[in-house]
Amino acid sequence: MGYLMKGHLSHDGEIVIKASDLSVSRGSTIVLDDINLTIRQGDFVGLVGPNGSGKTTLLMAILGLLNPTSGNVEIFGQDSKRMKHNGRVAWVSQAASNLPKNIRITVRELISLGVLTSKTMLPFFKNKKNIREQVENALELVGLKDVADVDIYSLSGGQRQRAVIGRALVSNAEILVFDEPLVGVDRDSRNSLLKLLDDLCHTQNKTLLMVSHDLAAIRQSAHRVIYLDLIQLNDCCRGGIQYDGPPSEFPDLLSLATLRGIRNVHEPEHIIISLKEGNSEPKVEEE
Ligand SMILES: Nc1ncnc2c1ncn2[C@@H]1O[C@H](COP(=O)(O)OP(=O)(O)OP(=O)(O)O)[C@@H](O)[C@H]1O
Ligand SMILES: [Mg+2]
Repeated sequence: MGYLMKGHLSHDGEIVIKASDLSVSRGSTIVLDDINLTIRQGDFVGLVGPNGSGKTTLLMAILGLLNPTSGNVEIFGQDSKRMKHNGRVAWVSQAASNLPKNIRITVRELISLGVLTSKTMLPFFKNKKNIREQVENALELVGLKDVADVDIYSLSGGQRQRAVIGRALVSNAEILVFDEPLVGVDRDSRNSLLKLLDDLCHTQNKTLLMVSHDLAAIRQSAHRVIYLDLIQLNDCCRGGIQYDGPPSEFPDLLSLATLRGIRNVHEPEHIIISLKEGNSEPKVEEE
């Protein structure tokens, strides 16, 4: 299925994520249908869409945590189901800051977990000083230096969220996959976090795939927006990418409402949308 709307993107980075003819079911429902997607090194991709549109499902399929019904995903050219990421991909899940209550751990300790690998845990591993520096650097980046020795349960929800982001940043992964990292984060922290993520893409060529409900934040920070939605086509509902392009060409609110089939309750004549498979543009019709 082709996208309903596609903006213009210019790239020359190496392809780091490639989904080909990807379909994924949850239970008996096909959530994602025939997704084709390439993400290049240095991209900052914002993934948006209504609740239940399959954003988390797409991230989990990309990470190889869910089996596709058909198609496949490659990360760095290897099937994501089979590849060992070797720390090249870091993931902050949607519920990452809901840490188990029976574990008492400080912010610094939590962030340090991000650098733990089978290699760094060896007693004779030489670069322990480097690791300490990396952790201090991550504490600084996420603005939690002042509370580094505080138990994470004494923190606000937003601070806890920043701590789990710090754990992902310290890992030095090349691809960062964040599911709703901005939830509960106050305005100032959100702005500095988005600036930090943008810098990581520009200066360190990191690739970022970030789900957020905060469309304004995505528009202001991501280089590319992917909009997922379930759309009624003939008799069935199909989930997939409905827009893929730069934030500047992302549909305005009215076009988006129209695309989603949301009627304007204030108007006597409601508008509806007719979507035919293969159409490149949504077609608005009078009812
Ligand atoms: N474990 C599961 N078993 C069965 N169905 C599931 C499961 N997890 C999710 N689903 C269904 O799959 C669809 C997509 O869910 P998903 O969590 O990917 O959406 P989302 O876009 O991330 O939503 P949200 O914005 O609420 O996080 C939904 O209809 C959801 O009910
Ligand atoms: Mg989700």
